[in-house]
Amino acid sequence: MDNLKNLFACLVMYKHNLQILHWNSTGIDFSSAHEETDEYIDKFEKMIDEVGEIIKSLGGNPIGLKDCIEILEKDTTEIYFGADASHDYNYEEVLESIDKMFEDLIKLYTKCHEDSSIDIFNKSKLHKHGYYCMVEGSYKTKAKRK
Ligand SMILES: [Fe+2]
Repeated sequence: MDNLKNLFACLVMYKHNLQILHWNSTGIDFSSAHEETDEYIDKFEKMIDEVGEIIKSLGGNPIGLKDCIEILEKDTTEIYFGADASHDYNYEEVLESIDKMFEDLIKLYTKCHEDSSIDIFNKSKLHKHGYYCMVEGSYKTKAKRK
């Protein structure tokens, strides 16, 4: 359950990061950054819903915003990305930030997949939707950065 809660907390924070990148994107490729972040915001929303429902189906409760931040701060294995709302991000910085977020989420999805306390049905559900979305997003982002 802890792995699922970490994943949920990270998705919540990273969706908000994406919104900051969406609002604060600047420069010549502004429209690409604006559209891509929008697309991922929608996808992350679906992932949050899915992970929240899985937590509930396993007898837990979804996590409030304050607890999400606390959970991520407590995790000493990872330094999570917090978008700076006072900074304007050019396209390269947007891609770099998205890349970092996908990398972290792939790690968290993998931990959930390896977690024996999550049943087979829930593992496959996570894997089919969320994990593939993150891998695809990561691959596309890396290709654009070259
Ligand atoms: Fe918008």
